[in-house]
Amino acid sequence: MSKVILITGSNTGIGLGLARLLAEKKHTVYIASRKETAGKEALATLHSEGLTNVKLVLLDVTKEPTIDAARTTIEAAEGHLDVLVNNAAVGMIGTDQRAPSASIDALRSAMETNVYGVIRTTTIFLPLLRRSPNPVILNVSSALASGTRQARPGAGNHHVAYNSSKAALNSYTIALAAELAAEGVRVNLVTPGLVSTQMNGYIAGGASARVGAQSLLPWALIDKDGPTGKFFGPDGSELPW
Ligand SMILES: NC(=O)c1ccc[n+]([C@@H]2O[C@H](COP(=O)([O-])OP(=O)(O)OC[C@H]3O[C@@H](n4cnc5c(N)ncnc54)[C@H](OP(=O)(O)O)[C@@H]3O)[C@@H](O)[C@H]2O)c1
Repeated sequence: MSKVILITGSNTGIGLGLARLLAEKKHTVYIASRKETAGKEALATLHSEGLTNVKLVLLDVTKEPTIDAARTTIEAAEGHLDVLVNNAAVGMIGTDQRAPSASIDALRSAMETNVYGVIRTTTIFLPLLRRSPNPVILNVSSALASGTRQARPGAGNHHVAYNSSKAALNSYTIALAAELAAEGVRVNLVTPGLVSTQMNGYIAGGASARVGAQSLLPWALIDKDGPTGKFFGPDGSELPW
């Protein structure tokens, strides 16, 4: 059955890769971009590949009116939403994220997009999701959100702004899954692992956006009796909190 799917931050990177995979499976995919030009370019690329079942909304997760407008557009065209993928995030690379001297501005920016942005978007789209026979919310997290992993001796990458924001996202997602379980809304977290994207300056050794997106795919298309309130790694196994 074809689903109606919205992916935030999908003008590039893993979000764009996921949009392509889902559109190839004939779903109706709304890509979302905070920048009009970047969004139109991504849409044109997908359409040039024959993926005309992709549409564009302009959505900045830090700006509530843009989320409201996207919701109005999708409601008018589709009447409901089956899957919301909260993928948009900032890494705050280039800011001081070392614990002893961490930039409060960097923390604030990370929280604004990676946590409050997800909460805002979810809250606004929940009424449309509730009209789906199988509503799914997939929040894109990071292994760096895992306290168990980061507390291991020798663990690196203690990026305070990014990691704290993703840990907060995990906490919110646990609560959301618990609150919505009785209604049959599936809510999960997934990390794509290390992927070369603009977020990390296209780091060497990372997977391609398509491979990263493949690790999100099964959780976006999860069925009614699938798991909820779980945190999955790129290979599909559960990650420690
Ligand atoms: N890459 C990795 O190794 C890795 C590892 C673990 C988890 N992740 C997660 O995977 C997800 C996708 O990241 P990515 O690597 O594909 O990064 P990316 O290429 O930088 O993509 C991030 C997307 O989020 C958008 N975005 C940022 N702030 C936004 C806002 N306020 N409103 C709406 N969109 C906004 C960006 O838009 P602009 O183009 O306008 O900036 C971009 O489209 C993120 O949640 C990230 O934390 C990535």
